[in-house]
Amino acid sequence: MMALRAHARGGPEQLVYESAPRPSPGPGEALVRVHAAAITFAELGWDETWTRQDGSDRTPIIPGHEVSGVVEEAGPGCALAVGDEVYGLIDFDRDGAAAQYVTVPGDVLARKPAGATHEQAAAMALSALTAWQALVDQAGIEQGERVLIIGAPGGVGVYAVQLARARGAEVTGTGRESGRELVTRLGAQRFLDYTAGPLDPGASGFDVVLDAAGAGDDESFYRALRPGGRMILLAGPPDADRAKKHEVHATFFIVTPDGAELAALAALVDKGELEPVVGQRYPLAEGRTAFESGSRPRPPGKTVLLVG
Ligand SMILES: NC(=O)c1ccc[n+]([C@@H]2O[C@H](COP(=O)([O-])OP(=O)(O)OC[C@H]3O[C@@H](n4cnc5c(N)ncnc54)[C@H](OP(=O)(O)O)[C@@H]3O)[C@@H](O)[C@H]2O)c1
Repeated sequence: MMALRAHARGGPEQLVYESAPRPSPGPGEALVRVHAAAITFAELGWDETWTRQDGSDRTPIIPGHEVSGVVEEAGPGCALAVGDEVYGLIDFDRDGAAAQYVTVPGDVLARKPAGATHEQAAAMALSALTAWQALVDQAGIEQGERVLIIGAPGGVGVYAVQLARARGAEVTGTGRESGRELVTRLGAQRFLDYTAGPLDPGASGFDVVLDAAGAGDDESFYRALRPGGRMILLAGPPDADRAKKHEVHATFFIVTPDGAELAALAALVDKGELEPVVGQRYPLAEGRTAFESGSRPRPPGKTVLLVG
């Protein structure tokens, strides 16, 4: 098969489009013929991309852990059937989907939303799941709560805005001015341009703040919460002293692959309550250029490699 691979640890400059062995599904796994794979720019910087848990070298590695495709073969004990259209998030310590085929544990895959293309489904696999786990599993948002989404036009942000609205929250998003139209169309009642200066002093009293920008432990995000409010961080652990000072609950978590939650997200897409957002598309052969684009301004939403 053809694949995008790196033979040595580094950035996009290490990626080459080349022939690679086609994998075989083990027990409980499906071999997926990839139609689209979304990429996370930061994945090339993570240890688990390059080394196994015992510290041994994983190279050559295949990136792109957000997949949508069709089951080509089911391993022993895998509940999926040949021909099923599926999507999912693949653990980052396994080979990814920037290839014509990938093996994936069957239980982290869900049926692709019928109303979405493969590229749209791939674009949701990590970002929508992260937004769901942040707002539903971690923050437990409720009807009528005031929610502030930092980085609302981003890969995770666009789903966070929609999920918060679908759960009856009142949503404010922050981002670059160019994202205002998209974010308000997706349901945010208010939009703040973060490049215009510090967070609006009027941005206060929120029940939940989600840092979907990975902007970090910013003092202004804490000030935006009411006492007892919940802050969810995606880029790193909170400062416990700062959380205590502001009397808020601050949590960092890392998204985990979950087929059942992806099935719930697919159902929202098919009901018209969740719109997948694709930022930009590249053919698999141009995967290196796709990764390089992470350091430049880009349209809102995920970057997707087209494979099928
Ligand atoms: N913990 C987890 O499991 C998990 C899962 C997924 C993602 N993440 C992390 O979450 C972050 C977002 O990921 P993503 O894929 O959604 O990234 P993305 O597509 O690059 O989106 C980030 C968005 O935030 C905006 N932004 C940057 N700084 C901001 C600030 N100070 N205030 C408001 N908006 C700001 C960016 O705008 P401009 O760049 O145009 O200014 C962009 O629109 C990354 O740090 C990623 O590593 C963590």
